[in-house]
Amino acid sequence: MSEHVEQTFVALKPDTVKRGITGKIITIFEEAGFKICGMKMVWADSDILQQHYEEHVDKDFYEGLEEFMSSGPIIAMVLEGVNAVENGRKLVGSTDPKDADPSTIRGRFAHMSFDHADSSDTLHKNVIHASAELDEAEREIEIWFNDNEIHSFEHAHESQVR
Ligand code: PPS
Repeated sequence: MSEHVEQTFVALKPDTVKRGITGKIITIFEEAGFKICGMKMVWADSDILQQHYEEHVDKDFYEGLEEFMSSGPIIAMVLEGVNAVENGRKLVGSTDPKDADPSTIRGRFAHMSFDHADSSDTLHKNVIHASAELDEAEREIEIWFNDNEIHSFEHAHESQVR
């Protein structure tokens, strides 16, 4: 495998699952040429969320973030592709949907803002998470997936997109 081919961790958040738009978002990654190497539905508990968001657990917003992320099941995915971490984040867009370009997943499927969430009873529903850095992707994949849930197979994209 070329050094540029990476795996990233992507989670479709509870708002996305409840809105029934998971397929539309998975299609965006598939059409961009990402290979789905692992995918499962998980109803996350506090333990796994504290591991996943370990650098944020002491922040003021963490309680609301955990409440949101455990408010329903998520779709957890391992996606593989060329510079998958950077390219995945490009498709996902800015963390705050208010600032996300309309051509990105968060810009297209949400318009929430941190300010609005922080000043009201609303949770910050931002549709999707994608790893920000390669070492973060490796850490997050290990948290959410067992080795035997990540599959290695030949995908049409390997000859037509990569
Ligand atoms: S990022 O995308 O990791 O660079 O974003 P970052 O700004 O570091 O934020 C990390 C996650 O914390 C969530 N977050 C918040 N949730 C609720 N309220 C407030 N104010 C808030 N600030 C940050 C943000 O959505 C990120 O979650 P993920 O799952 O990475 O999108």
